[in-house]
Amino acid sequence: MMQIKAAITAVHGHLPDYVLTNQELERMVDTTDEWISTRTGIKERRILKGEGLATSDMGAEAARGLLEKSGNSPDDVDLLICSTVTPDMKFPATGNLISHKAGIRNAFSYDLNAACSGFIYALGTAASLVESGKYKKAVVVGADKMSSIVDYADRQTCVVFGDAACAVLLEPTTEALGVMDHRFETDGAGHVHLRMKAGGSLKPPSHETIDAREHYVYQEGQAVFKFAVTKMAGISLEVMHNNNLRSDDIAWLVPHQANMRIIEATGRHMGIPAEKVMVNINNYGNTTNATIPLCLWDYENQLKKGDNIILTAFGGGFTWGAIWMKWAY
Ligand code: UT7
Repeated sequence: MMQIKAAITAVHGHLPDYVLTNQELERMVDTTDEWISTRTGIKERRILKGEGLATSDMGAEAARGLLEKSGNSPDDVDLLICSTVTPDMKFPATGNLISHKAGIRNAFSYDLNAACSGFIYALGTAASLVESGKYKKAVVVGADKMSSIVDYADRQTCVVFGDAACAVLLEPTTEALGVMDHRFETDGAGHVHLRMKAGGSLKPPSHETIDAREHYVYQEGQAVFKFAVTKMAGISLEVMHNNNLRSDDIAWLVPHQANMRIIEATGRHMGIPAEKVMVNINNYGNTTNATIPLCLWDYENQLKKGDNIILTAFGGGFTWGAIWMKWAY
């Protein structure tokens, strides 16, 4: 029997219009363009402004554009997974709301939360469902309105994050293309370094939690930084080793965009030259679940059928992982 693989056949993103520059941040907190540029590589990020607009609105825009671009009707989609840490509300799932807003009526949909690793976890999960032969058109959306959980009085985090959404279409193929292998890992002991302290069942919202500013991203930057480099490079090399891939075989490395120094160090550890490492952190900052598909969208014109691509991410949880795929168009 022919083996079914799951291949990305289209990618489309949505970026909110408002551009928050380093210069504007200089007026909001005690920081400088020089510090942000040299310590993170970020120059600007997008912010979703407007009453009543949430993660699902960006996700629906990305999904709508994706289906239009690929010539598919919303009725053709049979699965939609949204990876996000900023759902519109605790329930229903943002994936349900995206489907509704994008007119996707024949799909089952749900959310997946693996913090910054969410998109690759969701892509791996969706690929397995497509490989089963049961699903023919799966949409994976990485979307976050990080501005809804960032403390704009905390200079360590507010300079880093941005808002965006990006979606990919996964379809079955019998060619040796698409998602070839993946490996994901988790270490819940890392939760102390990166989390939102309140708002869940552990500490439901109260006047006290709001006064203590516990509904924002809490991050111990340096601790996370060290893990991010070793884990992303380590698991990517493991996936490459398991598939007899050398650094020279890799056309593109697509690392989660959390910090330019982490991106560069990961590439160095893996022996991948800078010109093969996708980077767009300068324009969008860390958009959490949207960083990796946004890179694919930005570099889409440079990708060739058969290119070996490694996607890798690290995030809260801790969660991390790597996917090897062969570009399919
Ligand atoms: O996406 C999920 C996973 N997340 C990550 O991978 C993020 C990993 N961490 C990072 O990217 C970096 O740790 C940060 C960008 C968050 C922080 O950069 P850093 O180089 O690790 O800075 P630091 O926290 O070690 O702080 C160095 C100094 C401190 O001042 P002192 O104590 O040396 O006087 C900070 O107070 O820089 C100061 N600082 C700032 N100064 C100007 C921290 N943030 C700022 C700022 N502007 N925005």
